[in-house]
Amino acid sequence: MMYSLLRPLLFLLDPETAHTLTLDTLNLLKKAGLLPDRVIRCQPVRVMGLDFPNPVGLAAGLDKNGACIRALAALGFGFIEVGTVTPRPQAGNPRPRLFRLPQAGAIINRMGFNNAGVDQLIKNVRQSDYRGILGINIGKNADTPLQNAVDDYLICLRKVYPYASYITVNISSPNTQQLRQLQNETELAHLLSMLKTEQTRLSEQHGRYIPLAVKLAPDLESGQIAVIASLLLKHHMDAVIATNTTTARAGVEHLPHGNEKGGLSGAPLTERSTAVIHQLASHLQRAIPIIGAGGIMTASDAQSKIGAGASLVQLYSGLIYRGPDLVTETATLLCS
Ligand SMILES: Cc1cc2nc3c(=O)[nH]c(=O)nc-3n(C[C@H](O)[C@H](O)[C@H](O)COP(=O)(O)O)c2cc1C
Repeated sequence: MMYSLLRPLLFLLDPETAHTLTLDTLNLLKKAGLLPDRVIRCQPVRVMGLDFPNPVGLAAGLDKNGACIRALAALGFGFIEVGTVTPRPQAGNPRPRLFRLPQAGAIINRMGFNNAGVDQLIKNVRQSDYRGILGINIGKNADTPLQNAVDDYLICLRKVYPYASYITVNISSPNTQQLRQLQNETELAHLLSMLKTEQTRLSEQHGRYIPLAVKLAPDLESGQIAVIASLLLKHHMDAVIATNTTTARAGVEHLPHGNEKGGLSGAPLTERSTAVIHQLASHLQRAIPIIGAGGIMTASDAQSKIGAGASLVQLYSGLIYRGPDLVTETATLLCS
């Protein structure tokens, strides 16, 4: 209700300014005790060995530095994913780099992993009194050559390991040059094998096993999806997130900002990401859980993702267009 009044005002602002203002305001409200926790009645859902209080999570990229975890959790999410974080801080691409396409219920972003670096993210996580399920999404710096990408993932993995409930390996952002090449068979096999070895070592060192999830692009062909699924199985990954944003522009080319470079998210992505989930599910046969993301604008979009084989879902663009009621509505439907 409240958000339907606020949205027209926020949409008058430049998208990135609106984003920062919203996160700052949520933080202030929470600290002042003016943002009560939305309580959603749900039977916990066990995925990756973790008990999720409800299956609706916040997708990566909204709170890149983990600076607003507690306030975002108050919106009713069953889990929060922060990041993508890189080893060193980086500014990301020049502004403007975030565009609304309201006629299509969509967003195009080419943020380029703007973040304060993994050390700052850890500081923020340590300072937060959030005790729920926290995913930390890791990536590579823009100026790290692709052949050294594994090093960046390993640096982040080691640093965030003690603070995460699960860790997401982001190889699917379209806004870091060549990043998606890590989804190719040879590169992916190498990356997954290195990550698995390090995860095993870290679990012995810390006496705690932290699951690893791999986040995929929606712009993969069926053959590539089959190859990736077999590698995920071979290297015993704990989950797969499908999907990130798309480079496709079908249906939005004619709209203002429709041809901006970057990743498209929101309503135009709904069906494609569900199709990817469906294909992954048929290869994985429930051996690895799927977290569904991409164009969940209504509770029933989320239910379709679960129907296609996802065990959990994540929201981003839907939250921008629909506000926190989407979290409540979706969790209520999925929990019923
Ligand atoms: C502005 C913006 C920034 C994003 N940043 C990240 C990111 O840093 N890491 C990541 O894995 N995904 C990122 N994403 C992708 C989302 O997590 C999600 O996978 C994608 O937007 C599809 O979901 P949606 O249609 O509900 O938005 C970003 C999305 C948007 C709109």
